[in-house]
Amino acid sequence: MCGIVGYIGSKDAKDMVLTGLQQLEYRGYDSAGIALVHNQEVKIYKDQGRVEHLRELCDFAFCSHLGIGHTRWATHGVPNKINSHPHISNNGRFVLVHNGVIENYKKIKYTYLNEYTFYSETDTEVVANLIEYFSNQGKDTRDAILMSISELEGSYALLVIDQKDPNKIYFAKNKTPLIIGVAYDGVTIASDVIPLAGHCDQYVGLEDKTFGYITKEEIHLFNYFNKEISLKMKNLDLKNNEFGKGDFDHFMLKEIHEQPSIIRHLIQEYFDKEKINISPEIIKCIKNCTKINLVACGTSMYASYMAKYYFEKLCNIPSEVFVASELVYSSPLILDKPCFIYLSQSGETADSIAVMKKFMDKGYPSIAITNSVASSMAHLATYHLDIFAGKEIAVASTKAYIAQIVVCAILAKAVSGQKTNLKNNLSKAALAIEKILEDKILIKNIAKEIVDATNVFYIGRGIDYWVCLEAALKLKEISYIHTEAFSSGELKHGSIALIDRGVPVIAICTQEGTNSIVRSNLIETKSRGAKDFVFAMESMSEPSDDFIIPNVAHYLAPIVSVVVCQLLAYYVATLKGNDVDKPKNLAKSVTVE
Ligand code: M6R
Repeated sequence: MCGIVGYIGSKDAKDMVLTGLQQLEYRGYDSAGIALVHNQEVKIYKDQGRVEHLRELCDFAFCSHLGIGHTRWATHGVPNKINSHPHISNNGRFVLVHNGVIENYKKIKYTYLNEYTFYSETDTEVVANLIEYFSNQGKDTRDAILMSISELEGSYALLVIDQKDPNKIYFAKNKTPLIIGVAYDGVTIASDVIPLAGHCDQYVGLEDKTFGYITKEEIHLFNYFNKEISLKMKNLDLKNNEFGKGDFDHFMLKEIHEQPSIIRHLIQEYFDKEKINISPEIIKCIKNCTKINLVACGTSMYASYMAKYYFEKLCNIPSEVFVASELVYSSPLILDKPCFIYLSQSGETADSIAVMKKFMDKGYPSIAITNSVASSMAHLATYHLDIFAGKEIAVASTKAYIAQIVVCAILAKAVSGQKTNLKNNLSKAALAIEKILEDKILIKNIAKEIVDATNVFYIGRGIDYWVCLEAALKLKEISYIHTEAFSSGELKHGSIALIDRGVPVIAICTQEGTNSIVRSNLIETKSRGAKDFVFAMESMSEPSDDFIIPNVAHYLAPIVSVVVCQLLAYYVATLKGNDVDKPKNLAKSVTVE
């Protein structure tokens, strides 16, 4: 996780790097640091806390034209000043920032670096000293870096400054993203395209196991055989204002509000009148398979349950959802001809990538459904589908969830070849979400009733239960209230013991077949003291229900009912005064296993 940015050019590197870091804070935000070259000397500023705090530390007038910076999500060592990046080698020559995890850092320490002193608890400091070690053996900096990275196991995006020649930024990349952007006035290198937006015209996403260096005018890229690689630059068509909060207090609220227009955008992208526009190869890949394995983490995994539902109902293809972090270390029974579909907003989730590599190595085709065409997963997979949700900045995923479900519904329809009124139903769902957004004050009032709870339970069955899983994740990750989702029928097999007086239990009722039984289960909790809430679809609502969800096609109910739960989570978290967009202990892109 962590975000890194480097800049070299005629603009002020301090501003470029600090602004870039602020834009990358979604990747981690427990500490931040920057190294700036001034009069051929490197100056380092770093501390625990946000980039805003680092900005205060950098309240000086000098202008620098080369800098590297880091915003951290701690893996090795607590968040404090010493563990913050940049780290420097013992003789002070190599200054380095790192995103990723060096798995063999202990082995490197005792193999090569017994004579070295380590000040931090990080794996990163080992890399700085390893470069120094090889450089002390007479290697030039580029070779010393190559020899060092050839020893590393794990993931890394590294930026390095050599104090003896502080006119270059060296870099190396393996298993964690690194993108170089070019502008007329300089070069930016970062963990994401966002810091490039607004000033770079072209970019290149680096491949794994590449390294090199940038100067103000040049980029040199090499593979690990030390062979120079030509750069395949792409045009960058992103504007800075695409990443602002607009009139909203938080990115999360803005992203929740974007959902109707994302559904409409997906209709435009994937429908040509009534015909679905998806590459015939992707359709063939799914049609030819005997089982679909859906692999994902977190919110994307909960979206995968809906994908399973669509593929089984519409295409008659057995489908199973796998937690990526489990699948990577297990060997499920793979029969006949499986197809693997990976759902990931970022396309950078380490666990999902590890599974993708594992099963692609075995020869199984993969379809990545991501929100970033430039992501590692989009690049690695046999096929890629875009969810067109626009950059999601808030750590809590909202719009990506509904966009993933919509794309899977469209894909399943296309594979089924059935005549479809999906387009029309999606348009209705977009309208229904707009209606919920208009009524959001009602949800804010419900939030006031649960803000002081220590436990909250969501209950539902079938499709509604899958939404409960996502609703519970949303509430817990930003409000820090312990929230669980239960299939309502399972309650009396143990979990109902948790119901005490006043515990909020929220039932989601959008499916005719299960509505009355979920309500009965809710009454069972109410009889034991629970404070009950019902979010019900209009067609099956009752006067006492707490929120009425406008009617939509039953199979699209999740993309509508979830909006009520997203807003509830948002309001509870804001009432508690939490940092909604950057909840504690989390990061947006989980690029470590
Ligand atoms: O980028 P991905 O969709 O692969 O990310 C997966 C999860 O890390 C992510 O959905 C996470 O659970 C969110 N914080 C949920 O809001």
